[in-house]
Amino acid sequence: MAQFLFLCLTKTNFYKFLVMCGIVAYVGQQDALPIIIKGLKRLEYRGYDSAGVALLDQRGLSIYKKKGKVAELEKFLEETGDIHANVGIGHTRWATHGEPNDVNAHPHYSSSERFAMIHNGIIENYEVLKKDLLQKGYTFQSETDTEVFVKFIEDIYQHNGCSLEEALRLALHKVVGAYAIVLINLEEPNTLIAARKGSPLVIGVGEKEYFFASDATPIIEYTNKVVYLDDYEIAVVRNGELQIKTIENVETNPYINQLEMELEAIEKGGYEHFMLKEIFEQPKSIADCLRGRLDAKSGRLVLGGLREYMNKFQNAERIIITACGTSWHAGLVAEYLFEEFARIPVEVEYASEFRYRNPVINEKDFVIAISQSGETADTLAAIELAKSRGATIFGVCNVVGSSIPRTTHAGSYTHAGPEIGVASTKAFTAQISVLAMMALKLGYQRGTLPESTYIQLLHELAAIPAKVEKALQTNALVEKIAAEYKDARNMLYLGRGYNFPVALEGALKLKEISYIHAEGYPAAEMKHGPIALIDEEMPVIFIATQDSSYEKVVSNIQEVKARKGKIVAVVTEGDTQVKALADHVIEVPLTHEAFTPLLSVVPLQLFSYHIAVMRGCNVDQPRNLAKSVTVE
Ligand code: G6P
Repeated sequence: MAQFLFLCLTKTNFYKFLVMCGIVAYVGQQDALPIIIKGLKRLEYRGYDSAGVALLDQRGLSIYKKKGKVAELEKFLEETGDIHANVGIGHTRWATHGEPNDVNAHPHYSSSERFAMIHNGIIENYEVLKKDLLQKGYTFQSETDTEVFVKFIEDIYQHNGCSLEEALRLALHKVVGAYAIVLINLEEPNTLIAARKGSPLVIGVGEKEYFFASDATPIIEYTNKVVYLDDYEIAVVRNGELQIKTIENVETNPYINQLEMELEAIEKGGYEHFMLKEIFEQPKSIADCLRGRLDAKSGRLVLGGLREYMNKFQNAERIIITACGTSWHAGLVAEYLFEEFARIPVEVEYASEFRYRNPVINEKDFVIAISQSGETADTLAAIELAKSRGATIFGVCNVVGSSIPRTTHAGSYTHAGPEIGVASTKAFTAQISVLAMMALKLGYQRGTLPESTYIQLLHELAAIPAKVEKALQTNALVEKIAAEYKDARNMLYLGRGYNFPVALEGALKLKEISYIHAEGYPAAEMKHGPIALIDEEMPVIFIATQDSSYEKVVSNIQEVKARKGKIVAVVTEGDTQVKALADHVIEVPLTHEAFTPLLSVVPLQLFSYHIAVMRGCNVDQPRNLAKSVTVE
């Protein structure tokens, strides 16, 4: 995939309120329910506090909803009896406000129960609309904006005596906010109507059957032909035909994309958890990321997305990197990479802070937005802000066709394949791989990186997948060490230079999935506070690989040892100095220090994984978290 598409966002702060949810719908000849349930399970990373379906069969239009995970809904449906329908819609929710319960779960009926709707997003002016509808005598069961939305559509439908799609079109001119919606209509059994603004919606095109979903994962096993609906478009599938119109009623030609994703990429493939599978996939995901871009022998490094913007990149006065969570940690690694190799000043910003502090930014700035999902609301809003100030925006994203690649001027996909475990692992290393290639390319083009070093670094980067494979061989040892520390209440992660972001990432992984409090710090900062925490109860995880700050880190290890802290250290193969001091060492292969994070993070991912499993935590779906954070 080369260059990202450019699309304009039209409303400031548009992404402020987006709600995380997953939607799936089906119309065709097959039994809709199993397709929808399976699809919802694949979308549970988007939210898992309640779920529901609406199905249309000879008996009519029925809604089934349940608080809890999709499995609860599935159980409830099994108890309800044999349900068969060829058309249906389904939803999995992550509540932002309003209790997760059966009533607030989607789908929602219109007043006459003639229509039902699923919705991912939020209608900002729903209170005004609701007040109006209340005055007209409408009543509401739930606290949701979605129920207001569907009743508002029905009100227009009744008042104007028009078709449902026309009523929807008129309604969309009045609603303010974000939505990906699908409507089902009792009177049109072979029809689904969908629309999008701000929230993602993909349409799978089969043989006289169509699938709608928040991303392609529910669709891939049935068809690899998809249409990405654009903002302000309405899609209607009627009697096996798909038609797309803008909300101005102009028909557009659906562009059919070929999905490259494989079904096995979204299945566990024999692993107990997606997270473990994804950790073990890293040699392949990094190789996939480098493939076709880096050829060390010929010294060739091509990033298609950069081509058109290379001039801007090279002449940028500043690089601003914006992201959230693990992607922000990848951004921190990139700061070291860009400054070392390309000598351009870099700022790394939490997207959520950047967007609210009136940053100084102009057309000479090159902004890199990093995001696994391509849907993170804060990152999208930061992009919008930087774009409005004239900066060039480059996306580094994993999910093909997601909102960020559709919003930025250009970008590079990470090609890590679907990441399903909520805690990010392979996306992180793929992001660093793309950013490393960008830094090398930039340094070489600017002349700040001599050719011989450049070639040597290309070879080193090309060797990383095999070295990650070796780092993974520490798994059994890491599991043993994890057993010793699984009951810890706190942990400290320390690293320096390129390994400082790795310390942050290691601590984040542990917090996210095992619920143990952990802090990442630059090792040298320990003496300014965290050292007070150290006693024989405190495990300290050091990343002490062979690099320019190795000796300094060894001193920090000694300081911890003197205070009887427990020391686990990630070191370079053959290390003796740290081995003599630490309680446990985990060896990773030697590489150039700029690429060390790609190796040193691996045992830390495994460490948090094993601890979480031993503590009985839900590794792939940790409490309170979601993979795609579309709320601010
Ligand atoms: C959530 C996920 C994290 C991820 C962060 C940023 O918090 O749980 O794993 O790092 O969002 O997401 P993005 O998709 O923008 O990388």
